[in-house]
This record gives sequence, structure tokens and C-alpha cells, in this order.
Amino acid sequence: MFRPVIMSLALLLGSMVMPAQAASDDSLYQALGQQQGISALMETFILEIADDERIVHHFEKTDIERLHRMLTEQICELSGGPCSYSGDDMVTVHTGMNVTTAEFNALVEDLIAAMEQHEIAVSAQNRLLAILAAMHKEVVNL
Ligand code: HEM
Repeated sequence: MFRPVIMSLALLLGSMVMPAQAASDDSLYQALGQQQGISALMETFILEIADDERIVHHFEKTDIERLHRMLTEQICELSGGPCSYSGDDMVTVHTGMNVTTAEFNALVEDLIAAMEQHEIAVSAQNRLLAILAAMHKEVVNL
């Protein structure tokens, strides 16, 4: 009789200590091509951003080598891979940039373009996009 209650409590506590958007297995990490695939994907993604006049101004003073390393770590971890993101939290990083929803969507389009170039399966693309969409409020209009 108490088992469902205990299980619900365990799930609730689990959701409080685990990042909500983290994958529960490594299938997305595998679909993205593991560490090497994600690193290559992030390189293409940054090149797309560099070519995107809607948002490139935000990155004028950015250390691109660090951005690449941090994005690779973050996507590796969030997709269920064996990595730990060592960068700053999303609110701290993006506070003061006043990123708009239109700019957020532009960045998402750049990621889709990069994933298309890397021939990532559409199902994996959608899983990664859902993870990023959940971070919208941590990035936009801070
Ligand atoms: C879900 C969407 C996003 C994710 C997951 C994300 C992730 C990250 C990560 C991991 C970093 C590196 C943090 C560090 O160095 O410790 C970063 C930095 C940065 N992000 Fe985002 N970001 C997102 C959206 C955006 C958008 C929409 C913009 C602007 C259009 C933006 C602009 C920047 C800039 C300019 C930096 C570099 C900050 C600096 O130079 O120190 N980000 N982001």
C-alpha cells in the first residue's frame, strides 16, 4: 500500500537532485557520434553562428576555443555521455546579454543546420532540441 507513495517520493527527490533535462541513458550520446562526433558537431555549430548576422555580434569578445570546449562538455553530459560540464551555469553566463526569443530561435536554427550537415538522425535532432528548448528561460531576456 505504501510502495507507490515511497516510489513517488523517490522520483520527486530524484528530480530535485538530477538535472531535469539530462538523458537517462546514453542512446542520444551514441546517436550524436560520442565525444568525437559531438566535438565535430559543435565546431560546425560555431561556424554556423559565426556566419549568422542575427546573433554573431553577441560573440565578438568570446573565447571561441573555450566556447567549443564548454559546449562539447555540456552536450556530452546532457546526452548521457561520460562527461562533466565544467563551465558556468546558464543563468550566470547569459545574464546581461538580453538575448531575445528571436535570437534564441536563430541559434536553434544554426544547430539544426549543423546537425543536418553531420547527418544526425531526425529523431536524435529532436531529442537534442527538446533539451535545449527546456533551457530557454535560463538564457532569454536575463
Ligand atoms: C539553449 C541554448 C544555449 C545553450 C545550451 C548555451 C550554452 C552556452 C555555454 C555552455 C556557454 C559557455 C559557458 C562558459 O564559458 O562557461 C555559452 C556561452 C555563451 N553563450 Fe550561450 N547557450 C545558449 C544560448 C545562447 C544564445 C541564444 C546566445 C545569443 C544569441 C548565446 C550567447 C552566448 C555567448 C555570447 C557566450 C560566451 C560568453 C563569454 O564570452 O564569456 N547563448 N553558452
